[in-house]
Parts: sequence; structure tokens; C-alpha cells
Amino acid sequence: MAKVKSVYACTACGYETPRWVGRCPGCGAWNTLEESISAVQEKAPAKLASNQRPGTGAVPLLLKDIPEDTALRTPTGISELDRVLGGGIVEGGLMLIGGDPGIGKSTLLLQVCANLAEAGKRILYISGEESARQIKLRARRLEIETPGLYVLAENALDAVETRLREIQPDVAVVDSIQTMYRPEMASAPGSVSQIRESTSLLMRICKETGTAMFVVGHVTKDGAIAGPRMLEHMVDVVLYFEGDRQQDYRLLRAVKNRFGSVNELGVFRMTGKGMQVVPNPSEELLSHRAKGASGSTVFCGMEGSRPLLCDVQALASQSYLNSPRRTVNGADPGRIAMLLAVLEKRAGQRSYNQDVYINVAGGLELSEPAADLALCVAVASSLKDQAVGAETAVMGEVGLAGEIRTVPQCERRVAECARLGFTTLVVPRENARRLQKVPEGVRILGVDTVMQALSVLF
Ligand code: TYD
Ligand code: MG
Repeated sequence: MAKVKSVYACTACGYETPRWVGRCPGCGAWNTLEESISAVQEKAPAKLASNQRPGTGAVPLLLKDIPEDTALRTPTGISELDRVLGGGIVEGGLMLIGGDPGIGKSTLLLQVCANLAEAGKRILYISGEESARQIKLRARRLEIETPGLYVLAENALDAVETRLREIQPDVAVVDSIQTMYRPEMASAPGSVSQIRESTSLLMRICKETGTAMFVVGHVTKDGAIAGPRMLEHMVDVVLYFEGDRQQDYRLLRAVKNRFGSVNELGVFRMTGKGMQVVPNPSEELLSHRAKGASGSTVFCGMEGSRPLLCDVQALASQSYLNSPRRTVNGADPGRIAMLLAVLEKRAGQRSYNQDVYINVAGGLELSEPAADLALCVAVASSLKDQAVGAETAVMGEVGLAGEIRTVPQCERRVAECARLGFTTLVVPRENARRLQKVPEGVRILGVDTVMQALSVLF
């Protein structure tokens, strides 16, 4: 007889406790504990031993004797995905792709599968959410007619394991981890213990068979993959899909990558025929810019190794409220409050009686301090109602004394601005001094303070 026991598990970190508490002792999050029933088999140890190997039977190898081709990369044929993965899919790698429902995870992965199948790889697409017919419908929409692409609609993990070992695909997709379950466990699919067990089983299969696997993970309301931390440390690569459903841009970001660098960004666009790569995101992001309007400034940010130009917009308008409104989209509101204070105190740009709205066009999130000066200039431009020149880009970190600090990788930012036809670049003085090469036709203005930057611009 199985004894039924209930435990409370944290949906954020997987911490388990026999009693409910309001705050998770593991990660400190509030209200994340959920009850799950776990049946304890009385003969659990014996049962475990019969269907689980105590180890993989691996023997220690000398580092120098390990053949180097164990981490061969296969390009996916989708350049932006390859960039984020660090060159392609690594044999035996387990990759988690997270994102809001409807953002395009299944679409992108089906396209990846088709490309790889086209290149002669064995592919298995396992879906626990959609029927084989629904996948066929999507494939038709994407105009995929590749032979050699297996589809399996299944969510019992034991059956999935059997099929994986039978077909031995080079690459498999599991869509999604929340729908997979192990029947011998009493808790419901999507619960913390199911997700953890499912992922560890998939990981073992990957490492044993050399199959590379993409696992889809849905994101909870507060923006983390359900059961996030425990999943993140188990897998090799964690990618997040971001973007507005209203806008058609999709940003794919690496949060963790055992095989490459993180902070790389892939830019896609959702079209009627699936995800298309955006090879030239700076141009796209600036394409709707209102040239000659006050309150708009161009900033060159760095996303990993890639410079990305974006349009930083501010609108200041007379406030009729006791405490004026500050609405910020795409930047840190605390940082904006600081910059407004610096503008007021160090550059005489008063906004105490103004509602200030900040928006970074294209759904980007500015997290670099290097964006400070561009934000200041945008606000000042709106306060003065004077436009910044259309061929001007601005970068620099702003300190509390109103001083401008250097930005990293200035050379690359300058080159990208020049490539897109910007001829006047306002940069920190120290960066200007250190620049090895100034592109032809570009004027570099080095500045020391916010005050100076405003006086050269307006
Ligand atoms: P999907 O890949 O199912 O999202 P996820 O797996 O992340 O939940 O994408 C669904 C959305 O994408 C849906 O709103 C329809 C849209 N879509 C397109 O715009 N173009 C296409 O070619 C496809 C297949 C879907
Ligand atoms: Mg899906």
C-alpha cells in the first residue's frame, strides 16, 4: 500500500517543507508554496534500484585523453539563434527556451527542426500541448514539407523515453516541460516535483545518447519560468524569449550558456510565415523615428557583443497633479528619478511641475548606465521643446555631480553609429580621447558634464 503524504513545495525554487508557511525559507519569496501530494512507496528503495542505474557506469578519464570532438556544434540554419547559442547546437546539450504563451516558441522550434531535417539530421518533435494534426497545420502555414521529421504527441515521459531511445534523434524538442509527467509520481503535471523529475530524466537521456534537446518552459505571471531556479541550474543553456505581443519584434536572450557567452541577443520578427531573423536590428529599430521632433534622442547600446541603436523618447508636459506623473517604459524608474534630479540641480532643467513620460521605442529595455546621457538629453529636449539633430547620437554615464563617465566598448558603438549615417556623436571626453579611429565624416564631441552636453546640442 502506498502511503499518501502531502508536502508543500515552492514554485520558484523547489524548496519542500511538510507544513505550509507564507514565506519560502529557501528563496524568501512570498506565497509561493503549493501543496502537492506525494505517494511514498513503502518499498521505495528497492523499486528505485531496479529501474534506475546507480550511475552511468562511467570511468574516470584523463583530461588529455578525452577526444575533443565531443562538443561538435551543428548550426541551426537560423543565424540569430546560432548567435545566441554561441555558434550552434552542441551534441547532448539540454536547452531550455522560456517565454510567455503565444510569443512564438513552438513556431521557432518547428522551423529549427525543419532546417535541421533538411540538413539530413534525425529530428523528433515531441508535443504535450498540441496534437500531431495541429502541428501539421502549423507546418503547412510555415510551408514546411521536410521528410524525415518525426512528430510525437505524447506527455507521459516513460513513453517519451522509449521513443527517444528507439528513434535516436540527433535533435529533439520537448514542448513543453509543464505538460510532461511521470505516471509513477502522484503529483499533477506542471507541479514542481514533476518538472524537476522530468527535467532530470531528459538530462540523463541527453547525456547518455548524445541527443541535443530543446525544452520549452512557460513563464509564470511574474515573469519567471515556473519552477525557474531549479530548472536553470539543471540545464546547459537557458534562453528567454521576450517581446510585446502587440509588436512583432521578438528578442531571444541567453541567460545561461555552458557552451558560449551569455548576454547575446537574437532579434526576430513574427510574420505570417513564422519567425524571420532581423539581420539589421538597428535600422529596424530606428525606422519609425520621428525626425525633427523634440524629446527624441538616438542612443547606441550594447547587447552582448552587438551594438544596437535605439530611439529614446521623453515627453514633459505641464502637470496638474500634486505629485507629477513619472511613467517609464523600457528603463529603470529609479534611475530616471535620479537623472531628473541631476538635470534640475546640475543643469537647471526643472521638471518638478511637469509630467514626464519616458519610452524606449521597439520594446527594448535599457539597463546600461551608458544610456543615462541619452535619457537626460531626451528629457531636456522635451523641456526646451527643441529637437536634437537628426544625425546625432548620444552616449555616456551620468554621475550625481552631473559628470559624464566613460562607456565600455565605445569604438564599436561609434562604428555602428557611423554605419547608420550618424555624423555627430556626443561621447564622454575620456572615450573621445581614447578613440583609435574616427570614421570618416563623423564629428566626435567629447563632453565632461551634462551641462556641456546640453550646450553643444542646443
Ligand atoms: P506559438 O509558436 O504557438 O507560441 P508559443 O509556443 O510560444 O506559445 O505562436 C503562436 C502565435 O504566433 C499565435 O498568436 C499565432 C502567431 N503566428 C504567426 O503570427 N505566424 C505564424 O507563421 C505562426 C505559425 C504563428
Ligand atoms: Mg507552444
